Amino acid sequence: MPEPLRLAVCGVGNNISALFQGAQYYRQLINHGVPASELPGIKHAEIGGLGVADIDFVAAFDVHPSKVGLPFSEAVLAAPNNYPRLDVPLPEVRFPVTPGLTAADCEPSGPAWTRILRQLRDSRAEVLLYSLPTGLQWAADAYAQLALEAGTAFVNCTPESVARVPATLAEFERRGLPLVGDDLASHLGTSVVHRALLGLLTDRGLSLVSSYQLNLGGNEDFKNLRVVGESKRASKLNALAQDGLDTSKVEVIPSAGFVAHLNDNKVGMLNIEAVGWAGTPISVDLKLKVQDSSNAAGVIIDLIRIAAAAKRLGLGGFPAAAARILKSPAGGHPSITEAAVAHSLLELDAGMHVAGDRPSVEHAS
Ligand SMILES: NC(=O)c1ccc[n+]([C@@H]2O[C@H](COP(=O)([O-])OP(=O)(O)OC[C@H]3O[C@@H](n4cnc5c(N)ncnc54)[C@H](O)[C@@H]3O)[C@@H](O)[C@H]2O)c1
Repeated sequence: MPEPLRLAVCGVGNNISALFQGAQYYRQLINHGVPASELPGIKHAEIGGLGVADIDFVAAFDVHPSKVGLPFSEAVLAAPNNYPRLDVPLPEVRFPVTPGLTAADCEPSGPAWTRILRQLRDSRAEVLLYSLPTGLQWAADAYAQLALEAGTAFVNCTPESVARVPATLAEFERRGLPLVGDDLASHLGTSVVHRALLGLLTDRGLSLVSSYQLNLGGNEDFKNLRVVGESKRASKLNALAQDGLDTSKVEVIPSAGFVAHLNDNKVGMLNIEAVGWAGTPISVDLKLKVQDSSNAAGVIIDLIRIAAAAKRLGLGGFPAAAARILKSPAGGHPSITEAAVAHSLLELDAGMHVAGDRPSVEHAS
């Protein structure tokens, strides 16, 4: 059995609460004898030999006064996080959440930088998961640079451009470190449902007249996206264009409103107006309601395992295995085929199971 994945996180928000509690939910099922292949809500029982509960959280950075200084396992439950408390016993994870970078203290080799770098190295983190509020490009750049210096893989959950920056990607490649980004595509979110419906329209030969997507929610992400939604809007349009779809008639509103009583539930509303035979109209309206941060964690679990497995094999740069679960992958969607994704996943699995611990493998991106 491979060692559990050593994970450091920046931003101890709802995504991390869902990931931490969810991993414990699955650990409990596994301990009760549920076979890995029958775990609910899981696409890949293992990636590179890593199961969904094989995570050790080893370091965490945040700036919110309600979280900094708390033991990690308490901080994930602290307000303003409002992911529900799952009905599973949670282990105590005692290391404290430590202060993250701030705009005023983010200079390379400044005090915060030096301390975080030391923590990443001392904790032997394999993967740094970036899960900050959307819109903080300076922070995404800085934490990615810290990952490079510390020698950890980097996973970017947000729409900020990191893996799409060729110079950054080249540097990760040069150092043999995986760079997974940008912007996770939620498990069953508005992006994948909207894309599937628009694709169906093309497939059946109807003509799109107009379409929109509105999202509402009651967590911090929705509060933030009301104000700084532009990078998310662009990334959501990238996700819709994944299979070559023309998005010029599609409007996307990442946060059409913050509705406090929705808590961590997201409501997505999709509308499609089209014309079929003889120009007669067709209209589709669909409402989707999901647990927003479960929707994120259900994909983060694959992104971090891909990153760790690639790192263990010495595969730097962007792993094609991650392409279909990101809204804005490095290089853009059209450049990465389904075959490349499947090959990359096989490569990560074969590396761990067949060829031993450090086989020589080709990078398939
Ligand atoms: N929920 C989804 O399905 C989904 C999908 C795609 C992308 N995302 C993105 O994932 C990101 C995280 O989402 P979330 O719901 O966990 O957000 P959140 O607001 O609950 O958590 C963000 C955390 O980052 C902390 N933070 C802010 N500035 C920081 C800094 N400089 N250093 C360290 N920590 C800092 C905040 O205090 C907070 O704890 C968002 O950008 C969101 O858009 C979410």
